[in-house]
Amino acid sequence: MCGIIGYCGHRPAIPLVLEGLSRLEYRGYDSAGLAFLQVSDLKIIRSEGKLCNLVEKVAKSANTFAPIGIGHTRWATHGLPVEKNAHPHKSYNGVLAIVHNGIIENFQEIKNVLLEKGYEFYSDTDTEVLANLVADELDSLLQEKYHTKFIDNAEILMHKAQEDNKEFLHCMEEAFCNALKKAHGAYAVVMLSPLIPQHIMAARLSAPLLMGIGVGEYFVASDVPAFLPYTREVIFLDDREFAIISTSSYEIKNIFSREKIEKEIHHIPWDLQGAAKDGYKHFMLKEIMEQPKVLRDCLVGRLQNKNVLLPELDNLKMPERIRIIACGTSYNAGLWSQYYLEQLGQIPVSVEIASEFRYRKPILGKNELIIVISQSGETADTLGALRLCKELGNTVLGICNVLGSSVAREADFCLYTQAGPEISVASTKAMLSQMVLLLLFAIYLGQRKNSHQEQATEIINELLRLPAVLEKTLPQLCEKAQYFAYKYAFAKSFFYLGRGVAFSLALEGALKLKELSYIHAEGYATGEMKHGPIALIDAEFPTFALLFDDEYFSKVRSGILEVKSRQGKVIALLQEGTMLENDDLWFIPKTSLPEFLALPAMQLFSYEMADYLGKDVDQPRNLAKSVTVE
Ligand code: G6P
Repeated sequence: MCGIIGYCGHRPAIPLVLEGLSRLEYRGYDSAGLAFLQVSDLKIIRSEGKLCNLVEKVAKSANTFAPIGIGHTRWATHGLPVEKNAHPHKSYNGVLAIVHNGIIENFQEIKNVLLEKGYEFYSDTDTEVLANLVADELDSLLQEKYHTKFIDNAEILMHKAQEDNKEFLHCMEEAFCNALKKAHGAYAVVMLSPLIPQHIMAARLSAPLLMGIGVGEYFVASDVPAFLPYTREVIFLDDREFAIISTSSYEIKNIFSREKIEKEIHHIPWDLQGAAKDGYKHFMLKEIMEQPKVLRDCLVGRLQNKNVLLPELDNLKMPERIRIIACGTSYNAGLWSQYYLEQLGQIPVSVEIASEFRYRKPILGKNELIIVISQSGETADTLGALRLCKELGNTVLGICNVLGSSVAREADFCLYTQAGPEISVASTKAMLSQMVLLLLFAIYLGQRKNSHQEQATEIINELLRLPAVLEKTLPQLCEKAQYFAYKYAFAKSFFYLGRGVAFSLALEGALKLKELSYIHAEGYATGEMKHGPIALIDAEFPTFALLFDDEYFSKVRSGILEVKSRQGKVIALLQEGTMLENDDLWFIPKTSLPEFLALPAMQLFSYEMADYLGKDVDQPRNLAKSVTVE
């Protein structure tokens, strides 16, 4: 939900900021902008639409060297995605510019006060209000200090700032903090000002922000890939912390107490290749094809003599119940794991959508373990649910992919999924990695209870075999996905059907198809079809059915035949060795964990459909990878 970056260093800031934004574009892409200093002038260039429009505009107008810059790629929350609402936003008097990810909830109240004081606004955003609030705080502080109101006189102000640069830095810090103290909601902000031309300031509250520590250069950004080519040394800012960065130093302090904070520097093992397309047409395709490796990486160090090792959970008390909370694709992974956690762990499990859970005054069991699943670890609703559960006194286990993310840091226990950076907005390999971790956790619970050891050993053997099977099967899946996508591209709507472990996959298949190709799709439990949805079936309304070789096989088969009897066209994904009276059969190799082959098959089908229909695969309209606002 919006990507932000700030840079201070020895390299030209403008191309660096643009490059960083290109790696953050997955967070939002309806408009973009940057700000830099040209001598003592604050320059802002903004553009509607994708980043390439900004790049073009910058190429025409900014052939200058700037050592400091900030940038933003937007996913609109306040105001239409038009140029006037694109970030950075200047204060009315042009003394500072801000980029912001989040929502200032009390922006209207603040705006009213500023309007009364005579401030003017040129956009519909909450960010412009914040920029003016900082300027207003600065105005008061400078008046107090110099007993004169010169903030509207740029020339005198600049002159004074050059004379008293230390004092101005101090005042700016205070103004920045005072403004942030008044702002409620969520923010990651970066600010640049010609009054403090060697520095940028950045702060966070409930929105991701990290610092990259280079040699003679410092970065702040929403995510690591933004500065990955330059440094892998990272500091994760916590809520209510702010950083002042210059080309030669940085300081981190608490916004409220202004006390200095010593922060640990983390080394990020990701490399740039993980965040590059690697010759694939789209990130999504690359990420789907990476899944055999992801499977292997998730198992590394986790198995010993057919036992699951999760040392991170050594101090976890055995729960009596488990509640899984997540959004989107992560929710579907959670729903899938319910079957295994209950079966192998012998623990009752419920699964909830985070945005529903957090506002309904939930009643949690005393010994109920909360599992929050989040690829990004920053999804606002999931984080809100996590915090609520902690307030209620429950233990939270986070399952997430992004190192040092808010979920990882705030949960009592954390399991990382080892999927590597996922850039495409639609989640693929992250879900597969979540499924592996959840399955390992189910076996681990069984181990601690000494139950279902035989079944667990069988699953472990199959998990070890799966990377090679998937690797061998992927070319066939690609071919079939393309064939069926072309054949069914006429569809306006699709059903996805599954039962047992395949039900949650049906939900995920439908989610992927609508996210990517904008074809309406609904996932249903096969047994539910006859309770209403089957009324929609005719020759124009196809179904993607999952038919696994499990105890439900004959029931699911009957369900599919009922659809066919009503002229419904069906793509049936089934395992070798089984059969169905249907034209469009898609066979996957026999395995006791067919989910791990069916998931990539459905991902590829949606990918091919979207690509064939000419949709923007990696950046579908209206979506963002990490939804850090409610
Ligand atoms: C967004 C993304 C989805 C993702 C969901 C949850 O909606 O577009 O792909 O599944 O957020 O994200 P999380 O990072 O919490 O797994």
